[in-house]
Amino acid sequence: MRLVLLGPPGAGKGTQAAIICRHVGIPHISSGDMFRQAIKEGTELGRQAEKYLQSGSLVPDAVTIGLVQERLSKPDCRQGFLLDGFPRTVAQAGALDAWLAGKKEKLDAVIDIEVPREELMVRLTGRRVCRRCGATYHLQFNPPRETGKCDACGGELIQRADDTAATVSRRLDVYVEQTAPLIDYYRRRGLLKEIDGSRDITTVTRSIGKALGRDW
Ligand code: AP5
Ligand code: MG
Ligand code: ZN
Repeated sequence: MRLVLLGPPGAGKGTQAAIICRHVGIPHISSGDMFRQAIKEGTELGRQAEKYLQSGSLVPDAVTIGLVQERLSKPDCRQGFLLDGFPRTVAQAGALDAWLAGKKEKLDAVIDIEVPREELMVRLTGRRVCRRCGATYHLQFNPPRETGKCDACGGELIQRADDTAATVSRRLDVYVEQTAPLIDYYRRRGLLKEIDGSRDITTVTRSIGKALGRDW
């Protein structure tokens, strides 16, 4: 299955992606995670991307498209993949279409997770992520068993650098201006599955399953 997860910052893309990929057995490709990894490792890509992530702006299309295409070319993506956070501009969506067409492949569905803005603010400012394995928690909605410690690996839980109120607000504006047009882009192509992401994590997973014809 070839899937795209669309939705504003904090909608639950990463949370649902991890669950869907476990069910379907496809790689989870998050452009945001790839940038954060590159920044952590201090690579050239990380140096280029850092100022954009810090401010909540988008990394330039040329850099992002190159990075994702390289990842999609790896052998583990041959049977399918789930893209989380890419595409995020009409130019990125066009590049993905062209790349897939060149391989005589196409997307199966684009899942759009929608959540009201006030709720996104609460989700992002309360989010904590594992420094070691990247697992995602929420202080209120999805707390770890032991405060400050990852259930999966015992790593320290920290706040993402772009989860401050000011940067969250900027990311939400960028989403409306540059990414929301993709909803129509994919609706016109008959690929869009609209999901109410405001409910609890399990209910959202179930409705994504239903939209894909799966009984999760
Ligand atoms: P990226 O990492 O993609 O961040 P984002 O799109 O802003 O989305 P988030 O990861 O913040 O939210 P999410 O939807 O994954 O929510 P989550 O599951 O964590 O991008 C970061 C930056 O990288 C960008 O700003 C940009 O600079 C750059 N970038 C990345 N891709 C790019 C691209 N294609 N082009 C250009 N630049 C790019 O959930 C959030 C919280 O809510 C968690 O605490 C979670 O536990 C909780 N939660 C989840 N679901 C529920 C629920 N149903 N009920 C209650 N709480 C829930
Ligand atoms: Mg995410
Ligand atoms: Zn961990």
